[in-house]
Amino acid sequence: MPHTLNAARPSSLGLEAFLAHYGDIFEHSPWVAETAWKQGLTTQHDDADVLADTMGAVLRNAAIDEQIAVIRAHPDLAGKAALAGELTQDSTREQAGAGLDQCSTEEFERFQRMNQAYQDKFGFPFVIAVKGLDRHAILAAFETRLENDAATERQTAIDQIIQIARFRLHVRAEMAE
Ligand code: GUN
Repeated sequence: MPHTLNAARPSSLGLEAFLAHYGDIFEHSPWVAETAWKQGLTTQHDDADVLADTMGAVLRNAAIDEQIAVIRAHPDLAGKAALAGELTQDSTREQAGAGLDQCSTEEFERFQRMNQAYQDKFGFPFVIAVKGLDRHAILAAFETRLENDAATERQTAIDQIIQIARFRLHVRAEMAE
């Protein structure tokens, strides 16, 4: 199914308006959207999947330290920022969608331990596209991915971030229907 970004067609927007609508698709990293816009957007980019591919390529082609900065811009899952109500609108929706706002005290503590173990090993937070996953599946993925090496996890995090961006753009397209 095509997901057309009807409410704010990317190809029709100047840089400032494009950033106002899509600068937040990559968490706290508007330079990804800005670089994509500067490469030139056509009516093909009014489709959420085409725009996700184009923005995703910007991130894949970025330097490793820029990629790590984008990974680090993500909040922990069921973390302190979530508890304090300090997440972006998209993160709030995604984390609640996976039931992370309904953790028991034990589950919450388990997330804190896993977040810390992952951060200690890799130096960046655990990022996973949570759509369709519940907290048990997320904790299982945590266990598996903690076994990986840093280069594999960096690549996995980038893949997951691009998947999160794709889902975010689908939501924007659906809002425009
Ligand atoms: N996956 C979807 N949303 C989020 C988020 O807010 N944080 C992390 N770490 N992963 C996510």
